[in-house]
Amino acid sequence: MKFDTPEFWEGLSKTKCDDSINQKCLKPETWDKAAATYDDLEKCKDYQAQVTEIINILQQKGALDKENIVLDVACGTGTYSVRMAPFCKRVTCVDISSGMLKKLEEKRSRFGLSNIEIIRQDWNDFEPEGTFDLVFCSMTPLLRDMKNVKKMVSISRRFLAIVTWAGLRTNQLLQKLSREIFGKEVFQKGHDITIPFNYLYTLGLAPNLTFFTGCWERVRPAKKQAENLIWRLEMKRPLSQKEKELVIKRIEGLCDKKGMVRAVTAVRTCFMLIDKKQAKEAIRCD
Ligand SMILES: C[S@@+](CC[C@H](N)C(=O)[O-])C[C@H]1O[C@@H](n2cnc3c(N)ncnc32)[C@H](O)[C@@H]1O
Repeated sequence: MKFDTPEFWEGLSKTKCDDSINQKCLKPETWDKAAATYDDLEKCKDYQAQVTEIINILQQKGALDKENIVLDVACGTGTYSVRMAPFCKRVTCVDISSGMLKKLEEKRSRFGLSNIEIIRQDWNDFEPEGTFDLVFCSMTPLLRDMKNVKKMVSISRRFLAIVTWAGLRTNQLLQKLSREIFGKEVFQKGHDITIPFNYLYTLGLAPNLTFFTGCWERVRPAKKQAENLIWRLEMKRPLSQKEKELVIKRIEGLCDKKGMVRAVTAVRTCFMLIDKKQAKEAIRCD
């Protein structure tokens, strides 16, 4: 099959989605477990800068507008939904995890954002009645399978915005533990911008790209940091009691005077924005 067709990239994405880690990433229980500490990342300056810049671009390009209806696919705790809601008519938020959505519900009432609609559903079962001015999707395993991106394209009336990894995601602490427990670094490579970008590009939708590089820092009490690292390692396979104790021991060894442990992930991410109207106009020469 030719690499300059969307079918090629759709087919390639399927071959990369079969492994057990990917299947686990799509289960609600996995994210229910992560929900309690997920928003710790919102305290990180580099992450805040990324979210703010993305909201600014969406506003500048007219994707966020008082008349616009937005869909946030796999919204999680709604980091982006709550930032988009003040600038548009409605944000419909869909996610499979009740734990993540509970956090979003808390934010919706805390910020008085009555235009946020929350739907707990598997994306595969989500069948909206109409289309959306902006379909937004950030950092979800759904972006590994182009069948999901195809659905996002089809229900977007004008804008499609995707945030995903861009070739760098290195957490030294996690890698060290991974080598110690599994004898190697087990984390998946290849789930980043490459396939979605090429898929959209071969559909004739050349996205505008904005890259972000930074250090995503999470400072947590040792117990919480260890729980989070165990959660990440258990994507590979369940850890034995002895292995969990080893993680706890290693993390406790890194505590500062206040009992806190810092974990940093070096990241590069990419924000892709498609304006279907602009894509159509670009091919008119008259
Ligand atoms: C890393 S979080 C990203 C959350 C949010 N978009 C953000 O950028 O902060 C991934 C999210 O994908 C959701 N998810 C995974 N599989 C899903 C599915 N099949 N349908 C809907 N949501 C799903 C998870 O529940 C989780 O909230």
